Amino acid sequence: MNEVEDKAPREGPWAAASFDGPPISMSDHNSYNTPFRILSTGIDSVDRQVVILHWSDGKESAVHSLMLRDQCSCRGCRHEESLERTLDQIAYQIDIAPRDVTILPNGELCVIWTVDGHVSIFKPGWLRARSGLENVAPERPQNFWGQELGERLRRFPYADIVADDCVMLDWLETIRSVGLVYVTGAPNASGSLGDLINRIGVIRKTNFGVIFDVEPVVGTNSNAYTADELPLHVDLPTREYQPGYQFLHCLSNDARGGVSVYGDGFFLAERLRSEDPDAFDILSTTPIQHRYHDKGCDYVYNIPLIVLRSTGEVAEIRYNPALMNGFDVPVAEARPAYVAYRKFVALTREPANQVEVLMTVGEIACMDNRRILHGRRAFEPSTGRRHLQGAYLEHEEVSSRILTLRRNIPVD
Ligand code: OGA
Ligand code: ZN
Ligand code: ZN
Repeated sequence: MNEVEDKAPREGPWAAASFDGPPISMSDHNSYNTPFRILSTGIDSVDRQVVILHWSDGKESAVHSLMLRDQCSCRGCRHEESLERTLDQIAYQIDIAPRDVTILPNGELCVIWTVDGHVSIFKPGWLRARSGLENVAPERPQNFWGQELGERLRRFPYADIVADDCVMLDWLETIRSVGLVYVTGAPNASGSLGDLINRIGVIRKTNFGVIFDVEPVVGTNSNAYTADELPLHVDLPTREYQPGYQFLHCLSNDARGGVSVYGDGFFLAERLRSEDPDAFDILSTTPIQHRYHDKGCDYVYNIPLIVLRSTGEVAEIRYNPALMNGFDVPVAEARPAYVAYRKFVALTREPANQVEVLMTVGEIACMDNRRILHGRRAFEPSTGRRHLQGAYLEHEEVSSRILTLRRNIPVD
C-alpha cells in the first residue's frame, strides 16, 4: 500500500467547504450495523482518487472516488423518498478526487470533493460491506451433500417461523445454503402454503396454478398427478426461468409407499466433473430440448443439463427425465451425448446420493429447484389418501427477505 496521509476524527469538516446546507447522513433502508470503527482515513499519495480506511479490527481497505462519488446518498444525489439515484452519473469529472476526507464524531466517513465542494457521507457498515469485509451474503452454497443429510436435515417449527424473525431468517438462510429444509407443524388447511410463502415474497404462478394439488387425477397432464414413482428431477426445466424454489405441503399421507426422495444436483455434477470430465463437458455444453405440453400449452426450452456460470461453477441443474425431449445435436454427437447423460442418470440412482424422508401431515418440504432433485417412490392409492400442495417461489424473493430481515437483526 502506498503512503497515506492519515487523518484522525475531527469536528465539523464541512464548515470549511463551499456547501450550501448541512450534510445529511447516508439515507438507506439498511442500517449497516458493524461492530468495527474507522480509526483513521487518508488519501493514497500515489493515486489521489483512492481513499484508504484503517479499521478497529486491524484491517485496511481502499475505495475509489468514482465509486464513492457515484454512491453519494445526499438529497442532491438521491430522491429523498425513493432513495433511488437522481445524480447524473457523467456530470462530474472522471478525475474527481477528495479535497478532504475525515471521520465525523458519529464515526461516519465524510468526503469533501474537489471542484464543487460537494459533501458525501458514508456509514462504516456500508463501507465494510462494499469493500468485501463483511455482510457479504454467500451467493453460492458452501456444502454439497449426499445420503448423510438425512441425519442432519433441519426442521423448523411453523409456529416459530411466524413468531420470531430470527427463526425466519435462519430458515431462509438454510434453504439458501443447504437447498433442502423441512417445516413442521404447518396448518393442515388447503391453501395455507400460500400464507407462509406470502411472508417471504411474491409467489410464482405457472400453468399449474398458484397453489397446485399433487394427487392422482383421472386424465392427468403430469406424471406428478399419478401414484407412480417419480424419479429424481427438477420441476419446469422447460421454462426460460426455471423456478428457484419449490415448496410441497403434506395435507395427508395415509397411502402405503410415497416416500419422498432428494438428491443434491450440484453434488452429483461435481462428482461427474471429477470422475468423468468429458461427460461433464458434454452435459454442460450440449443443449437438451426440454418440453412440456398439454391441451392448452406447449413449453419448449433448449439448455444443457448442467448450466455453468462464466467462472465454471455450476449455476443450475436442468434434469427431468419425463420432460427430456432429446439432445439438440448433429447425428455424429448423439451417441456421446447419450452416454454422458446415462452417467448422470446413474449417479442420481446411487443410494449414497439419495436422502429418503417420509412426509407427515403438517410438513412442508422446501427445496432449491435449480439445485436439488426431488422425487417420490410409488404409492398405493387404495390404501389411503396422499395429498400434497405445491407452489414455486423465485430465489430473489428469498434473498430480498433475508436482507430485509437482517436490517433489524444485529450482526454477529
Ligand atoms: C411434483 C413432485 C413429488 C411428490 O409435484 O413436482 O415431484 O412427492 N411431487 O409427490
Ligand atoms: Zn451527493
Ligand atoms: Zn416435481
